Amino acid sequence: MRQFEIRNRHFDRLFNTPGLMWLGQNTNHFPTHPAVRQAMIDSINGEEFHAYAPPAGMEELRALILADLDLPHASVLVTDGAVEALYNVCRSLSEPGDTFVTTDPGWKWPMQFAQASGAKVVEIPIYGPEYNYRLSVAQLEAAVDRKTRIVYLVDPNNPLGVCYTTAEIEAFAAIARRVGAYFVHDCTYRHFADTHTLAARFYSERTVTIYSFSKWLGLAGLRVGALVASPDLVERLATAPPNNLGCNVVSQRAAIAGLKVKGEWLPDVNRRQRHNQAEIHKAVGKIPGLKVAVYPSQANFLVVECIDAGITPEALCEAYRAQGIMIRQGSYHTPKFGHRFVKVATTVPESWADAFCAQLPEMVERARGIREPGPLF
Ligand SMILES: Cc1ncc(COP(=O)(O)O)c(C=O)c1O
Repeated sequence: MRQFEIRNRHFDRLFNTPGLMWLGQNTNHFPTHPAVRQAMIDSINGEEFHAYAPPAGMEELRALILADLDLPHASVLVTDGAVEALYNVCRSLSEPGDTFVTTDPGWKWPMQFAQASGAKVVEIPIYGPEYNYRLSVAQLEAAVDRKTRIVYLVDPNNPLGVCYTTAEIEAFAAIARRVGAYFVHDCTYRHFADTHTLAARFYSERTVTIYSFSKWLGLAGLRVGALVASPDLVERLATAPPNNLGCNVVSQRAAIAGLKVKGEWLPDVNRRQRHNQAEIHKAVGKIPGLKVAVYPSQANFLVVECIDAGITPEALCEAYRAQGIMIRQGSYHTPKFGHRFVKVATTVPESWADAFCAQLPEMVERARGIREPGPLF
């Protein structure tokens, strides 16, 4: 069987597992805000979906996204999730002979998009206490030159959960400007950070801010996100986008409703997910050889190092999978450092986080006996 079929069956099995506890994809499983649910119901009842949405997104949604980011002079292209925004940016702006500079670990798909356009990927290692688990200004400086077309920064970082300071973002943006590179600032997890600074504030001409509704609002399966950049750059990216027929109508109605209730929704989400972080941190601390790499995480997940416990991430994932709990092996993010950790999401009902914690000692023991976990993706 072809690899994509095996991968698809894997996710189809997970998706159709009743009661699966999704702690592996940083998705948000808190019950939807009633206003968001109602907006979707109203849209379906009104049968709005027979028409295509406006190609760049509903004007109300575009305005609300700009207000959320406080970037009044920028422009918005609403997309089928952040990933479509990244596809468009990476494929459209990369050319053969360019370099695409990012961190290791980071998010792998944009690297593949840039490579598909002929760019060479440069990954800067940031995993480990020797790097303080974050990109330094000196590292970025050393990695770029005039061939660098895109600097891609996931901030807060997935999987590490570090978030960059204003001074760091300002310095990164200055480096991108000096070499004439685009700065693709993937802010998918920004709403979970205590504070977050947009690179667009310092480098508005060539920064593309990537926006997602999957994580803070919990709309992963609805596929809605955006790219935000200068009007000139959005004009270019809107010329031949992957989807020129408008993003899902029901999803956009949900996103509009979500942005209107964000003030009451988000603080509670963050209170609950930080509580889950604390519980997981405590449970991990009781097991010799396990440790949380970055705590507290500025995103909605934690990296749990398991290498010193003498177990593989894959075996631990497999042990939990048999209990109806999905966590993610590090190799999804990074071939180089992936053997050291698993990732556990925290925007989940407290009962799921508690189940993860309660079973941790036994799962570690079981993982010791698992020699050949099945394929994981
Ligand atoms: C860093 C990063 N960017 C983008 C995405 C995709 O977001 P969306 O669901 O909005 O396409 C993810 C999903 O996990 C992610 O981790």
